[in-house]
Amino acid sequence: MIQIEGVRKVFPGRAGNPPTVALEEMHTQIEDGQFITVVGPSGCGKTTLLNIIAGFEAPTVGTVLVDGQPVTGAGADRAVVFQQASLYPWLNVRDNVAFGLTLKHGRRSVDQGRVDEMLEIMGLAQFSRHAPYELSGGMQQRVAIARALVVQPKILLMDEPFGALDAQTRGDMQSFLLQLWRRLRPTVLFITHDVEEAILLGDRVLVMTPRPGRLAEEVVVTLDRPREYAMVLTDAFTLHKRQILRVLRPDQAELHTG
Ligand SMILES: Nc1ncnc2c1ncn2[C@@H]1O[C@H](COP(=O)(O)OP(=O)(O)O)[C@@H](O)[C@H]1O
Ligand SMILES: [Mg+2]
Repeated sequence: MIQIEGVRKVFPGRAGNPPTVALEEMHTQIEDGQFITVVGPSGCGKTTLLNIIAGFEAPTVGTVLVDGQPVTGAGADRAVVFQQASLYPWLNVRDNVAFGLTLKHGRRSVDQGRVDEMLEIMGLAQFSRHAPYELSGGMQQRVAIARALVVQPKILLMDEPFGALDAQTRGDMQSFLLQLWRRLRPTVLFITHDVEEAILLGDRVLVMTPRPGRLAEEVVVTLDRPREYAMVLTDAFTLHKRQILRVLRPDQAELHTG
């Protein structure tokens, strides 16, 4: 379980600039195995929140607890996937995926069966000897996700992982990710600025206000699983979208009726 308790983040201003309040008093709790999505306008502190949970940044005030223990730094229980796949260009696909296991167990003791399984699930088996630059953007991101999950982290933190992909590829990636999540059941915190993506993937959507980011609303998604894209046409989906857009687009009067 992840507990976010009164987390606030202020970046000091450099060279006489005023400080930036990136996150304002955030409280929430995420149960094991849940798929949580976070939406909010650019600059509202989404990445800052993820960095704090990952242990890359310390909160100015408040604490994040993972299984009751305060986060004080990065750890093998939490894996991170960013918008850019940032693969190791000198390693082929297989060695990129195996990287975390190689670090942990040494080159000779890597569980090759587990690497094969990840390559298989992510549709990468035929590309294991390819170099990263030979792959499309979507495939590179699949390698990055496989690399993150091969070490079986309890928590997967994803910062707009499909933000740079075209709509078709993004849809494919969403179903790959959901399949993988059903199989391995990590707790997922998935940041996006795409409201539809947040609803389609999440058990719960955390909606943030413009900077300084606060948690404005938590929407429990009532769509069945497994999810499929056609669910965007259901009444439940529209209802959730309206709930979220009311927060993100307060200027749109039509959202506030009906
Ligand atoms: N290391 C940093 N130093 C100073 N300001 C930062 C730093 N990181 C983020 N910020 C500021 O904090 C705010 C929130 O940033 P960020 O968490 O990246 O937002 P988001 O991911 O929602 O777009 C922004 O105004 C950003 O400029
Ligand atoms: Mg960001």
